[in-house]
Amino acid sequence: MKIGIFDSGIGGITVLNEALKMLPNEEYIYYADSYNAPYGNKPKDVVREYIFQVVKFLDRQQIDALVIACNTATSIAVRELRKIYDFPIIGMEPAVKRAIEYNNDKRILVTATNLTLKEEKYHKLVERFDKQSRVDSLALPKLVEFAENYMFDEEKIISYLTSQLEIYEWKDYSSIVLGCTHFPFYKKWFREILPDHVKIIDGNKGTIKHLKNILSEGKENCNNNRGKVTLYYSGEEDKDNYILNKYLRIL
Ligand code: DGL
Repeated sequence: MKIGIFDSGIGGITVLNEALKMLPNEEYIYYADSYNAPYGNKPKDVVREYIFQVVKFLDRQQIDALVIACNTATSIAVRELRKIYDFPIIGMEPAVKRAIEYNNDKRILVTATNLTLKEEKYHKLVERFDKQSRVDSLALPKLVEFAENYMFDEEKIISYLTSQLEIYEWKDYSSIVLGCTHFPFYKKWFREILPDHVKIIDGNKGTIKHLKNILSEGKENCNNNRGKVTLYYSGEEDKDNYILNKYLRIL
């Protein structure tokens, strides 16, 4: 099957990485809209326009399914896209449900982009699962910027994350949700800064499990053994998967 996958930039590579482990034989077309990244700090209408351009591009590649490897883009456009396109569309949302299922007594911190946290979709999600008002939300836009600039170990990343996270009483929290696909690149720093009992949860595996279920419904086309990735970086093909491999190495 040919699977289109996109993000505002390279964050969705953290999702593609799971796809390559769980569904290694599919063909992937990844679009990183890095020229327009970040989405999370821009007006909704502008971001919506970017998303529609990207999906139009992927549709022209005749994809069989689409993964929106971006929480922000999902919250802005998934409903509308599903009305327009016939192929299955898998979106992403912060893993609030999983975090509450993991522990329903303590607090949960959901991290994402400003836009995701502002959107109605997120508020409805929290309303639905957070019956005891235990969810707090925090935007971490700089992590998107750092990842797009291929910065992963610099001191300023650690001090940024520390300053954002040190204000919480972590003994009251059971988990932190990484609700932006750029954030798993920084898992090791989250782990180092947070106490051991705080579980780090992201929705990447769940998204690919969902994709796997959808693909196995059309069994005859599944596993065509082509197993390759073509990445487009702001519209330009990533020759020899140079950018892709550079980012996969971080994970
Ligand atoms: N990676 C994206 C997400 O999951 C968006 C980051 C951005 O462009 O602000 O929300």
